[in-house]
Amino acid sequence: MIIAVDGPAASGKGTLAAGLAAHYRLPHLDTGLLYRAVGRAAQGHEGTPEFETRAIAAAQQLDAGDLDPEFLTTRRTGDLASKVAVIAGVRQALFDLQRDFALQAGGAVLDGRDIGTKICPDADVKLFIVADAKARMERRARQFEARGQRVDRDALYSQIEERDARDRNNPHGGFYPASDAHLLDTTQLDIEAALRAAVAIVDGAMARKAKH
Ligand code: C5P
Repeated sequence: MIIAVDGPAASGKGTLAAGLAAHYRLPHLDTGLLYRAVGRAAQGHEGTPEFETRAIAAAQQLDAGDLDPEFLTTRRTGDLASKVAVIAGVRQALFDLQRDFALQAGGAVLDGRDIGTKICPDADVKLFIVADAKARMERRARQFEARGQRVDRDALYSQIEERDARDRNNPHGGFYPASDAHLLDTTQLDIEAALRAAVAIVDGAMARKAKH
């Protein structure tokens, strides 16, 4: 079974995808980390032609087994990730890696922006997670505060909105709900409630599939 989980920054898609992977005992790939690692590799070259060259080379050489979420989940890398994500050559280089992960025997859970539309249009179940921008900002703020970092909430809100806009307008992005995606709004849900809702969607979709 392949489960595709897409949604904007801090929508809860990563936590939900990890929860679904544990529930169904499937391997999980957070595809945002791939873009973050590529962004890191091109850091310091923004605004120069080398930014693109370095990003494409990093994407071509990326080892998905070598991604450190703790190190890559910072505001700076999120921003860099969305800048390399608009480069067609980067998306192309990361395509096979994600596709191979999805097609491993037994299936997988992948989360990102374009899993249901471009990477796995054939996924068994597609979830598109949404939550309003204020709620997403507050979640991210608490994540950073839990790590002992000080957070300027207004600046964080602007940063989330800026990244949303860049992702939405990415001409190579595929960041929109697939026509067969199930929308899940997590604005009012805590992690447990959101996971219960996601499991109910997946179970329902698989039961309907089994009938046909
Ligand atoms: O999911 P996360 O916030 O870690 O992703 C970082 C950035 O990587 C996103 O803002 C987006 O620009 C890019 N991305 C993408 N396609 C994906 C996953 C992430 O363009 N499948």
